[in-house]
Amino acid sequence: MGQTLTEKILDDHLVEGELETGEEIGIEIDQVLTQDTTGTMVWLQFEAMGLDEVQTEIAAQYCDHQTYQFDFKNTDDHRFLRSAAGKYGAHFSRPGNGICHNVHRENFAAPGKTLLGSDSHTPTPGGLGELAIGAGGIDVTVAMGGAPYYIEMPEIVNVRLEGELPEWATAKDVILELLRRLSVKGGVGKILEYTGPGVETLTAPERMTITNMGTELGATTSIFPTDEQTEDYLERVGRGDEYVELQPDEDAEYDDEIVVDLSDLEPLIAKPSMPDNVVPVSEVEGEDVDQVIVGSCTNGGYEDILPVAKMLEDRQTSLETETIVAPGSKQASEMLAREGWVAEMMAAGVNFSEATCGACIGIGHVPASDSVSLRTFNRNFEGRSGIEDDNVYLCSPEVAAAAALEGEITDPRNLDDVEAPGVELPDEYDGSKTDLIAPDEAVDDELIKGPNIGDVPIRDELGSDIEGEALLKMEDNITTDHIIPATQDILMYRSNVPKLSEFTLSRVDDTFADRALEADGGFLVAGENYGQGSSREHAALCPMYLGIEGVLAQSFARIHRANLFNFGIVPLTIDEDTYESIDQGDEIEIVDDVYEAVTSGQEEFTVRVNDEEYTATLDASERERSILAAGGKLSWTRDQAEDGG
Ligand code: F3S
Repeated sequence: MGQTLTEKILDDHLVEGELETGEEIGIEIDQVLTQDTTGTMVWLQFEAMGLDEVQTEIAAQYCDHQTYQFDFKNTDDHRFLRSAAGKYGAHFSRPGNGICHNVHRENFAAPGKTLLGSDSHTPTPGGLGELAIGAGGIDVTVAMGGAPYYIEMPEIVNVRLEGELPEWATAKDVILELLRRLSVKGGVGKILEYTGPGVETLTAPERMTITNMGTELGATTSIFPTDEQTEDYLERVGRGDEYVELQPDEDAEYDDEIVVDLSDLEPLIAKPSMPDNVVPVSEVEGEDVDQVIVGSCTNGGYEDILPVAKMLEDRQTSLETETIVAPGSKQASEMLAREGWVAEMMAAGVNFSEATCGACIGIGHVPASDSVSLRTFNRNFEGRSGIEDDNVYLCSPEVAAAAALEGEITDPRNLDDVEAPGVELPDEYDGSKTDLIAPDEAVDDELIKGPNIGDVPIRDELGSDIEGEALLKMEDNITTDHIIPATQDILMYRSNVPKLSEFTLSRVDDTFADRALEADGGFLVAGENYGQGSSREHAALCPMYLGIEGVLAQSFARIHRANLFNFGIVPLTIDEDTYESIDQGDEIEIVDDVYEAVTSGQEEFTVRVNDEEYTATLDASERERSILAAGGKLSWTRDQAEDGG
């Protein structure tokens, strides 16, 4: 039987296990990336493990989420990250140089390689044929030390693209269409592999918009085959020699197939406050728009902003609408500036921002209360913009530009005298590289830790008894933004776990952190898809610091589930009846000897809630069980090193 493209790359990197759905496999990692929110813990853990030097072909530390240095704590973090990259041999991308995925795709992403990143949109270079997976920081730390990355072999779904995008429909509409059909849970446990005649009609950056937002489907990753479009892009970024042709075998078999006819697509928009709340733009046309932002790792490339610049050229944006353009990389800004497009946009009324994640996580450009913000981003979870009652819509750059011109949601097909700009790549991506410091140019060789940089908390070995209160009962689709928000006032404590923990789940219940500390142990209870969203390991680390020992949920999002194991919190799956039977404040006890049950491979656990008994399931590999038993991955890795394992 032939192989899918995913299987070919996995086979090339396989160090343990077999490529059978549901089996745990260990794969070798060629490249790692980390960013400023997750990076400080990555390097503190790397230091705690006593490792000397990065072992992967490429390791890159980006500073993108919080680049505004208006508090010494952020600047301290950036300086620490630069020093860690210098000491251990990673590339360092300075604050303002751009968003990790944009800078990575321009400089390092390559077909056939594996990439592990401590950011949930790490799958972005799947559009170039790289197998790129988002993971928790500790997984990245361990991979950076040369160990394999372990994952349950996902199902491989063939997303067959047919036809060609009509005028005004874009790559963003392809992924919004998939979200409309499949929902934010539709990709869980799956790798989406794109095939079909429609693939060759999409440029590599368009493909990367699609693979970027595969994360919103919950997919492990998404990948495209490589072809002339891939080679063309690599040549334009000056890395044509890294091109490798990669295609699935003709007789490859997939677990499932989805067909999207590109010619049927029209401009789409995700309404507040979930990326799968998708409707045609025409359905919400006419709604007033207070703010438009073009940018992010989804649509922040040169080729995403150029169409906006062309649509705004010699025109005036609406006076009632604030329009912001924040490119994904400084290279894109520099190129647009050299070609005069920045001036054109400014003349049209655009507020031009530095290349940063910023507004995507509520750092800067927070919308006015009870207002409408239209963004080209990938997420619109409630409150993520920095204000609780936000109304954030997600759309393509073209739909965003149409709204900027008209001051209301507008189907760009209805614009008078504005031509569809189409997709255009520059001859050469030729921005300067002064803000990307290679390991051999490192400016530091020792770690520099400011006062806000704390130690990494480590949990003791798993005990035999776990009992305590159901400290918080939550609904479906709780995001890591709910667990630890990434807004500026909170994010600046990312390297200071005791302080950061005070904000744990404060968006759900602001008494939670105090109650958890006082209870000194206890449980979280949640519905489906608990922990979806970003890869933020603080969402497990802070509950661990507060003493949480178990989470009972109907289902878990992939990265967060791994993070719970990595920080010694027992993730148990419960059915709907059990969920309904538990009230906040109930006393919960795991009846089994937990250490014994976890290490012996027991799957069903008896959970006593008040006086009733229920069954909960621990679906975990042998390796995950030993990590949990050790109290988390840091202790486990150290134990392994001591045992010579
Ligand atoms: Fe940054 Fe938002 Fe992407 S936080 S990495 S631009 S999802």
